[in-house]
Amino acid sequence: MALQLNDIAPDFTQDSTEGPLRFYEWAGDSWVVLFSHPKDYTPVCTTELGVVAKLKPEFDKRGVKVIGLSVDPADSHAGWSRDIEETQGAKLNFPLIADHDRKVSDLYGMIHPNASDTMTVRSVFVIDPSRKVRLTLTYPASTGRNFDELLRVIDSLQLTDRHKVATPANWKHGDDCIIVPSVTNEQAKELFPGGWTEHKPYLRTVKQPA
Ligand code: BEZ
Repeated sequence: MALQLNDIAPDFTQDSTEGPLRFYEWAGDSWVVLFSHPKDYTPVCTTELGVVAKLKPEFDKRGVKVIGLSVDPADSHAGWSRDIEETQGAKLNFPLIADHDRKVSDLYGMIHPNASDTMTVRSVFVIDPSRKVRLTLTYPASTGRNFDELLRVIDSLQLTDRHKVATPANWKHGDDCIIVPSVTNEQAKELFPGGWTEHKPYLRTVKQPA
């Protein structure tokens, strides 16, 4: 059964570019982005890992640890990371799981047999500090992911965890938000003393809470 939203992300111990890694211990109290790569020495993955290495300060700012996975052994990852640094101008600054026996890939349902029996699809799991899966994404091997979009979703998750708002289509940090339908107008007066705009009784927008 595939992992679903709000399921607990399973713990594991596996080899990585930073040595044997115990997932829960490594994650600590942070949010986590766990993302898989079909195979080492593949072109799209090479660009993805370079982009994530460059974006690491943005993940850090949000209290998010990033961790990649590919179904090859750690010595293969070591050679590949030299290529990533050379071609992408960014050194791997987060661990890459060496899932040589596909233990983690199977645990997280990252192998989709009708796509490939041997390679993982491009899975993404955003996991919160209580280990709940808050987002899942599955991309085909031929399409590189948009990691700015992941940051945007994390901004939304962290904001909507703190305030009784949701974020509209194409929302980005600083844009107006939506007051969740379960909040009555009476409650909204308390929660949003600066006021809001009622487009319809079910569609009320408000400045992004601080
Ligand atoms: C890639 O990462 O470049 C890739 C992997 C598998 C199939 C196609 C592309």
